[in-house]
Amino acid sequence: MRRPLRRAGHGRHTRPAAQRHLRGNGARPMTDVTTAADRAAAYWNSPGTVTEFRSLDVQPYLTDLLARTAVDGPALDVGCGGGRNTLALLERGFDVLAVDLHAGMVEATRARTAAYPSGRISVRQGPAHEIPAQDGTFALAVCQGVLHNAVDRAQWAATVTELARVLRPGGLLALNTFTCETLDPMLRAGTEDGQYLLPDNVPMVLLPVDEVLAAFTAAGLAARGETHTYVRDLDVGPRAVLRCVLRREGD
Ligand SMILES: C[S@@+](CC[C@H](N)C(=O)[O-])C[C@H]1O[C@@H](n2cnc3c(N)ncnc32)[C@H](O)[C@@H]1O
Repeated sequence: MRRPLRRAGHGRHTRPAAQRHLRGNGARPMTDVTTAADRAAAYWNSPGTVTEFRSLDVQPYLTDLLARTAVDGPALDVGCGGGRNTLALLERGFDVLAVDLHAGMVEATRARTAAYPSGRISVRQGPAHEIPAQDGTFALAVCQGVLHNAVDRAQWAATVTELARVLRPGGLLALNTFTCETLDPMLRAGTEDGQYLLPDNVPMVLLPVDEVLAAFTAAGLAARGETHTYVRDLDVGPRAVLRCVLRREGD
């Protein structure tokens, strides 16, 4: 069985166009004429990456959560990728706002959800730390594989605050993020604590599980039920994952 190649830091996929200029040990580009944001966008927008994320199945944890969660308000899919979770939320009966920073993913999710009326689905391009919604809008938010893509600690913290802002009291956040307990060998330390650089110098933020949970607690989101930590064996090496459901304090 073919084992998918995975780019350090982002998940499963084939080698991206953004890395084709790497030489030698693959640690640094020979000529770095683009910004990290450009390289990240080139990766996430590449047809191969979009196709791969569009083909993923919904993970059982989310299927289970949706089956036991009442539909009593709209849902948010932040960093919606190819739209697998957006579609699952729609099928469950939620009206959905799906947001992704990268146009290729936005287009993929729009195409995948085109059968739903505009009153039920809105797909917007933008960053996870600036969600286009009023305070206290969502009964449920899904943030899978996205939070660690923050470029630095400030953006990471702003994303946590933003997720808390848009959830209504009692609303749930299904969080799935890489953490720093296990680091694959392709990662290098960045310029600040918790920041790491992928081989193409695109940054990501990987923090200890306790620190992730403490940040959400400080923002008003407490863990509901068990938190799950495990190691994913990516082709680039092992990577630690935190998966949990957090509940916005209040009614
Ligand atoms: C690992 S994929 C996960 C996609 C989807 N959540 C899923 O589980 O299939 C990460 C997604 O986050 C998006 N992304 C990366 N940085 C982002 C940011 N700062 N704000 C919003 N989306 C971002 C990428 O374009 C990509 O679609």
